[in-house]
Amino acid sequence: MSNRAEPIRSVKGTRDLLPPDTNLWQRVEAEAHRVLAAYHYGEIRTPILEETALFARGVGAETDIVKKEMYSFEDHDVPHLAALRSEIRTHRPSIGSPDDFVVYLDRMRNFAAAFREAMGKGLVPKTPQNERALDVLEQMPATLKGAYLEANEVMFGLYVDHVDRALEDVLLGDSLTLRPEATASVVRAYIEHSLYNQGGVQKLYYIGPMFRRERPQKGRYRQFYQIGAEVLGSQNPLVDVEVIEMLVLFLERVGIREYQLLVNSVGCANCRPAYLKALQMALQDVKATMCADCQRRADTNPLRVLDCKVEADQPIIERLPKIIDHLDPACRQHFDRVTSELVARGIAYQLTPRLVRGLDYYTRTTFEITSGALGAQNAVVGGGRYDGLSEMLGGPPTPGIGFSIGQDRLILAVQAAAVLQPGSTLAAYVVWMGEATLAPALRLVREMRAQGLSVEIDYDPMKIKKAMGVANKLQARFAIIIGEGELASGKFQVKDMASGEQNELEPDAIEQYVKEKL
Ligand code: HAM
Repeated sequence: MSNRAEPIRSVKGTRDLLPPDTNLWQRVEAEAHRVLAAYHYGEIRTPILEETALFARGVGAETDIVKKEMYSFEDHDVPHLAALRSEIRTHRPSIGSPDDFVVYLDRMRNFAAAFREAMGKGLVPKTPQNERALDVLEQMPATLKGAYLEANEVMFGLYVDHVDRALEDVLLGDSLTLRPEATASVVRAYIEHSLYNQGGVQKLYYIGPMFRRERPQKGRYRQFYQIGAEVLGSQNPLVDVEVIEMLVLFLERVGIREYQLLVNSVGCANCRPAYLKALQMALQDVKATMCADCQRRADTNPLRVLDCKVEADQPIIERLPKIIDHLDPACRQHFDRVTSELVARGIAYQLTPRLVRGLDYYTRTTFEITSGALGAQNAVVGGGRYDGLSEMLGGPPTPGIGFSIGQDRLILAVQAAAVLQPGSTLAAYVVWMGEATLAPALRLVREMRAQGLSVEIDYDPMKIKKAMGVANKLQARFAIIIGEGELASGKFQVKDMASGEQNELEPDAIEQYVKEKL
């Protein structure tokens, strides 16, 4: 029997990106760096870990992302408290089991004492919530004991629930989250480093992983990548148009021609409340005929009704009030300027009144880019204005606009368009025949690599036929062959693997020859 261990696999919804696919990822990123630099954006790299409160406040506590999809954990220095807390919570006592109850009380007293001490030493945060929880945990042993002695099962159960909730509320350290998006992080950094003091607008971009606990499917992952850009400090609608123009240029550069640009305005804090009221009123008349989700959202979050994909609901949604008919004069003017300027620049767009986006920070212009090549998860880009976000995060009033490209989906679309192929990047594979040829072969490989050429060599001896097979498999552009004969003549064989043409060249001439032919 083999004692090989069970292999450990990658986490659900995450994946390894491997060569040659990563080759394509790099080319897309290189194009992004070029286009963003041309529009004068500078790169920002923010931490992947942020305080949970950043997203709760920035993205919105009621959004799907914050409510259901974040990877959050408590970051603390008190593992003994965490262990004790989970022991108490997992070993619920019953009134009929005195031994269990004694252990339960002991643990609770131990926890309360250690918690008080840790709070005193500043090891756990001294928040009002923690102080309330501590009060409950210190009082409950006596209260529970009373119910126990009276054999009052109902009250006993209620008190145990109360303890459980108090423990749930206990915060042992900072709540941290793997970023589900980066706009909130960029604005946090903008505020933290007072970038507003530098005057003018700040144009920042990022490329990196994001995390959302969604149901995985093609084009939807739990770790996915975004290429995003944010402009802070301008309300001018021409900035909105420049951002969109840049996106369109980038998509063209990576070979994507089949896409739709969807544009809308979601108004601002001044005009949206009246629209929401109108929407909610209209929904009262029709919601009974809609799907269960819509019925619920009609009361809790009416804007989300507009996202519904249920076929039967579509004609009803089409007749609901549209936010663009409820914009105040300033928002209307802004939107008109954006759309007329898009037309002037020949950028085709589809006015999509239902486009409200799933993050709370948006104001005025919102947009998405979808691609037919992608199936259900067809949004490649999402973006828009967020003029109130800086203030929500404790910064000065600062208008902002930006977008994020879903890089995983972009790559799928690029592959479907079949314009950029991963292809091989190996310039040469060096074949050596006989021990004496190894040293000159190594010298050549080293020199070529130092010139930036991608070169490969195998260190184990190989017959010529097998070595040429390897050159083929690696898709090397050239095979350079060094045998005893070549060593004697001082000229190496250089075979063009594409055309089959073979030349004898002195080692010093090879580098130049290969570079010219690549
Ligand atoms: P978002 O619409 O949530 O916006 O995401 C932007 C893009 O990221 C989506 O269009 C999609 O391509 C990709 N994406 C989102 N979730 C996943 C997933 N689970 N798997 C694969 N791809 C995904 C934002 O994130 C905003 N920060 C955009 C923004 C920047 N608005 C203003 N500035």
